Amino acid sequence: MNDSLDAFSIPGHVQPDIGAGGLACLHLRGQGAKATVYLHGAHITSFQPEGAEPVLWMSEHSQFADGLPIRGGIPICWPWFGPHPCDPALPAHGIARLRAWTPLEASVLQDGRCRIRLGFKPEGDDCKAVPHGLRLEYTLTVGQTLSVALDTVNDGNAPVAFEDALHTYFALDDARGAQVLGLENASYLDKLDGMAVKVQDGPIGFAGETDRVYLHPDGETRILDGDRHIGIAQRGANNTVVWNPWTAKSKAMPDFGDQEWQRMCCVEAVNCLRERRLLLPGNRHRTEMSLRLLAAK
Ligand code: BG6
Repeated sequence: MNDSLDAFSIPGHVQPDIGAGGLACLHLRGQGAKATVYLHGAHITSFQPEGAEPVLWMSEHSQFADGLPIRGGIPICWPWFGPHPCDPALPAHGIARLRAWTPLEASVLQDGRCRIRLGFKPEGDDCKAVPHGLRLEYTLTVGQTLSVALDTVNDGNAPVAFEDALHTYFALDDARGAQVLGLENASYLDKLDGMAVKVQDGPIGFAGETDRVYLHPDGETRILDGDRHIGIAQRGANNTVVWNPWTAKSKAMPDFGDQEWQRMCCVEAVNCLRERRLLLPGNRHRTEMSLRLLAAK
């Protein structure tokens, strides 16, 4: 264990550890729930209220290594979402999920929730890919609700545009019976149909590969998975992306089991494409998501 991480230990609440692939992580416990966050990508790999099954899905095939994304949990996509708009050689979904972040602060709130703050500032070659002056701060609050807040800060002297996503993977009993509610009548871009603009008719169900960018500012969604209901709220995000790779795409991804699509779906708080954010010098933008188990099996 490196000493610098030990400085964030709070007995009973924050436990530094070495996790998969030898990567440093923090186990967090607060007000009826526990979670784990890796410094690599500031990646939350688990969130589990006491007495309930894990809310987040993790692939059994995930890689845990410098420079590679973790598959599952909550990846942070930044400062672009999907392929880079001009340079296809740059990694999909940006660089924030590929780099080690720095722990900034750990605390226990009066109500027993546990809070951690992490920071990321691009260095070296990453400075060429990221607009000058941008950095990130990430605040995670663990209680029966898991709340995450991603701040993009512009320390530079020019306005800059960026995209971001809290790319959350939810664990499901069976995607084929699950529904996502709250996006009825919302318009969306169908990534699997040449970005055609469509309107959501009723709840979302999964009956094939699904990859959609909904226009959905500051809203709430709910996942129904049998008797298990998960409530999701987003703020500071104008899009919700809903994704399930289904069969062929699952097979094509090296870090994704062939059948694992049955046990997950992504509901992501996103600012992308026409909804990318413009940030003035000295300003910050906060993208937030909170998750809560509303009913368990
Ligand atoms: C989703 C995108 O957010 O992430 C999909 O809408 C993409 O198009 C998926 O396939 C997974 O991306 P990655 O880079 O983690 O494999």
